Amino acid sequence: MFGARCVLRALRSCSSAPCPRHKPSAKLSVRDALGAQNASGQRVKVQGWIRSVRSQKEVLFLHVNDGSSLESLQVVADSSFDSRELAFGSSVEVQGQLVKSLSKRQNVELKAEKIEVVGNCDAKAFPFKYKERHPLEYLRQYPHLRCRTNVLGSILRVRSEATAAIHSFFKDSGFVHIHTPVITSNDCEGAGELFQVKPSSKIKVPEENFFNVPVFLTVSGQLHLEVMSGAFTQVFTFGPTFRAENSQSRRHLAEFYMVEAEISFLESLQDLMQVMEGLFKTTTMTVLSNCPEDVELCHKFIAPGQKIRTYAKKQLSNWGADLHTEHEKYLVKHCGDIPVFVINYPLALKPFYMRDNEDSPQHTVAAVDLLVPGVGELFGGSLREERYHFLEQRLARSGLTEAYQWYLDLRQFGSVPHGGFGMGFERYLQCILGIDNIKDVIPFPRFTHSCLL
Ligand code: 4AD
Ligand code: MG
Repeated sequence: MFGARCVLRALRSCSSAPCPRHKPSAKLSVRDALGAQNASGQRVKVQGWIRSVRSQKEVLFLHVNDGSSLESLQVVADSSFDSRELAFGSSVEVQGQLVKSLSKRQNVELKAEKIEVVGNCDAKAFPFKYKERHPLEYLRQYPHLRCRTNVLGSILRVRSEATAAIHSFFKDSGFVHIHTPVITSNDCEGAGELFQVKPSSKIKVPEENFFNVPVFLTVSGQLHLEVMSGAFTQVFTFGPTFRAENSQSRRHLAEFYMVEAEISFLESLQDLMQVMEGLFKTTTMTVLSNCPEDVELCHKFIAPGQKIRTYAKKQLSNWGADLHTEHEKYLVKHCGDIPVFVINYPLALKPFYMRDNEDSPQHTVAAVDLLVPGVGELFGGSLREERYHFLEQRLARSGLTEAYQWYLDLRQFGSVPHGGFGMGFERYLQCILGIDNIKDVIPFPRFTHSCLL
């Protein structure tokens, strides 16, 4: 067998390092160039897109950005370079010397010796104009180009950083990462917001159904995580999730990312809430310390534009009725605009898997939501019904016994008290960055009547 050791040995013996006789300019990202400690004329090569061009009598100033940082690298070129070629939006490769900058605005700059335009940009036709700050709604029309703007660049870098921080949080806390399936035959939440998956009509399948049963895009990886928590104790998944909700609201998408965790031998909502809080705080602290400029840009330029909504004090809702967005916002405001846990919801409102609190006459389940300012519900979680007979009755009442026989099995073979939660990743980003519309924190938003690209 060609095992990992053999592959490593083979890789070591075939090096792709260049021939030492030709010493090419070191290729640097803009971020690394800007962070160079002692810029004293070393020859480097930087590639990116022109963000600004300023031409003076003797010199030409360019700002080049490659997405590695919010700040662009200033390139100083003499007037022999053709400024018409070096248009806003064009892609370039610049070779030159990295030197200390005389200006206070940046530490280093690149004294250009060679500038090659890799791809021209027709500035007239380009939908973004130099020096203009376009509103996010306008940028949304150009999902194929908006990542080249400062604001989307910052948001998507934070998104990437937060993704890594979430994985680190779980790894450091001893969780095992599970790839839960995207295609599934169950409706975890029981809300019927499913996208069905079928082969396109051109593909001939002998049976009526490709999988023999109707299948859907997952609305949650929870049930599969519950299977895995029965072996690995603490598990998590972080992947795309789909809901056919007919909503164009600023906090709903048809395809979003959910972070889900499931923990065995967990007996109280308090313990579950500690993990939720830990995930939120640790991820946010990492993001704040790793990309402060990106976060600041969002806070400075986006948040002040948000409308501040005020809610009249009124009765939240009748007991037994669900909380609507307006109630959630009122609760958060009432508590001083901080994140708020709401626990123990009426059993009748919640899915079959939540643990019965047996607290008549209210009759609640051990559910928990975390509501946050500006967004509303960010996390949803619960203790799971681990008692065979309770679960059996709940399933029977909903006519689900046959479909969920495997789920009942988990309660028959070494069942343990357990619980878990799901956090909407886009809503998390909205919350920490103060972005009003969920469509601006995902690279390619999908929602009712819109699937661009
Ligand atoms: O509250 P939900 O529906 O919970 C579950 O799916 C559980 N099975 C999770 C679990 O316990 N493993 O969804 C969890 C979170 C919500 O709190 C919300 O933040 C987000 O997912 N969410 C959405 N985000 C964007 N667009 C939508 N259409 C969303 N629906 C839910
Ligand atoms: Mg929920």
